[in-house]
Amino acid sequence: MTSSSLLPQGAIALDTKAARLVAGYETTPHGKIGHLRFNFPDKHNVIDLEGWQGIAYVMHQLAALDDIRLIILRGVGGKTFVAGADISQFEEVLAGPEGTEFDIATVAAFDAIAQCPIPTLAAIEGYCLGGGLGLAAACDLRLAREDARFGIPAGKLGLAYPANATQHLSTLVGPAHAKRIIFTADRLPIDEAERIGLVQHRASAENFETALQNLAESICAKAPMSLRASKFILDNPHAEAAQVKKRLADCLASEDYAEGRQAFLQKRDPIFKGK
Ligand code: COA
Repeated sequence: MTSSSLLPQGAIALDTKAARLVAGYETTPHGKIGHLRFNFPDKHNVIDLEGWQGIAYVMHQLAALDDIRLIILRGVGGKTFVAGADISQFEEVLAGPEGTEFDIATVAAFDAIAQCPIPTLAAIEGYCLGGGLGLAAACDLRLAREDARFGIPAGKLGLAYPANATQHLSTLVGPAHAKRIIFTADRLPIDEAERIGLVQHRASAENFETALQNLAESICAKAPMSLRASKFILDNPHAEAAQVKKRLADCLASEDYAEGRQAFLQKRDPIFKGK
């Protein structure tokens, strides 16, 4: 199967440098949507060292595209988002004092997603476990199918969960729920994941594609500089005032702000350019 066939129709595939990753972008009436897909469906899309190393590379490529409005992370095959890191590799790459290359790669992957200036969305079907939950938690939003299951089995393996992924989870659900998830390694069903704020949107299996499409369209139709400014402000509560002011000033000076005002007065939908 070619990479393009695993992406939405018409999408342009990008090199990922990793066999288990597929990436590309599609051009929509509201700018581009980037896609990063985890592709090892026979083994629940588990990610190997090469895959973890490829994630940052792909995220940087996607974020650098002209007029990119949203990046969607998703598993291939419809059965699982990602069931974590590939445990079958651990003996080789995550053992002993030197076995930190894997940890460095996972931390870099979570950081690349969390620090991406473009809005990110995890589209979650089935299992979202271990590092898979770390990937989802690093995204801005999570849309989950109703059969999704969330958990962190690090305590069953005797591993320390990566520091940044632990903090992302805690920021999302609070430290008490983060501890509960890690201490018990329970697989949370969708109701509970939604209740504690892990999931922002849910959809039945029949409605999942439509829900994903509608959500993506809604985000992409908004003024990109406006969303990026808010993302920066929310993610950097201690940012210097000058950095925040610059983003607000850039929005005020943008063509999109003029278009937004005009569209409102003319009672029509705005068409934003990201400029
Ligand atoms: N690493 C390596 N292989 C994995 C894996 C992982 N994280 N998760 C699943 N697999 C493999 C299984 O070993 C199995 O391989 P096999 O066909 O050679 O036996 C294959 O994927 C299918 O998984 P299986 O367990 O048979 O499917 P299931 O539907 O019964 O259960 C899971 C699915 C995801 C609940 C279960 O596989 C599981 O708990 N995986 C481990 C998740 C985990 O601990 N992740 C954190 C890693 S740090």
